[in-house]
Amino acid sequence: EHFQRDVGLLKDKKIIISAGPTVEKIDPVRFVSNHSTGKMGYSIAEAAVSLGAEVILVSGPTNLTPPNGCKFIQTESAEEMFEAIWSYYNEADVVIKTAAVADYTPSITYDQKVKKADGDLSIAFKRTKDILLTLGQHKTHQILVGFAAETDQIDEYAKSKLLKKNADMIVANDVTKAGAGFGSDTNIVTIFKRNGEVKSLPKMSKKEVAEEILLEVHHLLNEVER
Ligand code: CTP
Ligand code: CA
Repeated sequence: EHFQRDVGLLKDKKIIISAGPTVEKIDPVRFVSNHSTGKMGYSIAEAAVSLGAEVILVSGPTNLTPPNGCKFIQTESAEEMFEAIWSYYNEADVVIKTAAVADYTPSITYDQKVKKADGDLSIAFKRTKDILLTLGQHKTHQILVGFAAETDQIDEYAKSKLLKKNADMIVANDVTKAGAGFGSDTNIVTIFKRNGEVKSLPKMSKKEVAEEILLEVHHLLNEVER
């Protein structure tokens, strides 16, 4: 395949990839999370390693095995994921934020198991830090790639995330489409770039989507160097 010829394309580039869900604890036995399986992020990590990049995979809990040849950091909460990414941010050339990060975390995490009582229960949530937004605000030279899983108004939301978070690229997918999104081996994405370019890709394997994304990243890195 054409991709075989691209071995070494990302040589000497340090790429942080965040993948999977975050887990926000309520008490020692309960948590709030989401349906992310990590497949998209792990596919990107694997493809990046084969293109010669130095890959740091920061991942929430998944059932997947980290690809050989990458540095693997396991995280749970959005806060932990932020800290892990932040500690490598200065030295990174690229950050790809595939992870499905919780927008809210319980305001209080109980040290003991919460016992049931008569009547209903409400749990207060506070906002988490927006990791991509924070990276965008402190960007020096890094290429930032975000993901957006949407159910409607995809173009509008993707473009506004691109600008708001100071990202270079947003990879958007319509999670209501069959063959796209959580748990699927395929994905149907549209890539929105900073320069206004929009690239709609047909349904393809997550491995192929990963390769497309990394080729775009390669182009952006070369633009920066020029
Ligand atoms: N993201 C992040 N930190 C958060 C929330 C989101 O870094 N606390 C990142 C995701 O990893 C993704 C991008 O921001 O790359 C877009 O995430 P998404 O959930 O689609 O957007 P939000 O800004 O959270 O907006 P909303 O959920 O309301 O659509
Ligand atoms: Ca969100």
